[in-house]
Amino acid sequence: MLETLPPGMCWRIMQAQDVEAVAAIEQAAYPYPWSAANFRDSLAHGYHAWLLCDAAGKVLGYSVCMDVVDEVHLLNIAVHPEQQRRGLGLALLARAVHMAREAGMLSMLLEVRPSNQRAREVYARFGFAQIGLRKGYYPAQQGREDALVLRLNLD
Ligand SMILES: CC(C)(COP(=O)(O)OP(=O)(O)OC[C@H]1O[C@@H](n2cnc3c(N)ncnc32)[C@H](O)[C@@H]1OP(=O)(O)O)[C@@H](O)C(=O)NCCC(=O)NCCS
Repeated sequence: MLETLPPGMCWRIMQAQDVEAVAAIEQAAYPYPWSAANFRDSLAHGYHAWLLCDAAGKVLGYSVCMDVVDEVHLLNIAVHPEQQRRGLGLALLARAVHMAREAGMLSMLLEVRPSNQRAREVYARFGFAQIGLRKGYYPAQQGREDALVLRLNLD
């Protein structure tokens, strides 16, 4: 899937100067977005944050991963709403999985809302399997929403 990146697009490591553009996508993509400070904290902690950019360098999507011993946690993945459904989400995940394997990680973990069918479809394509449920993990319009905990074996 790494090879399927549309022509002209490229990967970049997220830097402090990208946070404004990333936070704008985040606001547009999520009902409960991370703040710019969340992204700055991620960079300060040395998390792996990748950008998918167009030929002009404009950010189209991103992923943020945190290593926990031999497990990598996918903390965030999003594509600009106007760029969705072009395979970029799959490309971002493929990149994150590839980098984790290269680093010798044994598994990738993530949380997803049961209602987030689009993301769940992307994860299902990679073979993520549910290993748990966190009750009331996410804020929601009415009360809280559970999180499915998914895991992908990277062996
Ligand atoms: C989840 C997300 C990253 C997917 O990115 P994307 O670039 O749109 O995904 P892709 O184009 O790679 O889609 C891959 C597959 O997912 C499914 N899918 C994606 N968007 C879909 C939609 N709107 N409706 C139905 N299926 C969809 C399809 O099966 C699709 O494959 P297909 O186009 O060949 O049918 C994107 O929807 C997003 O940014 N959502 C908001 C942030 C978010 O929820 N992140 C995940 C948090 S756990």
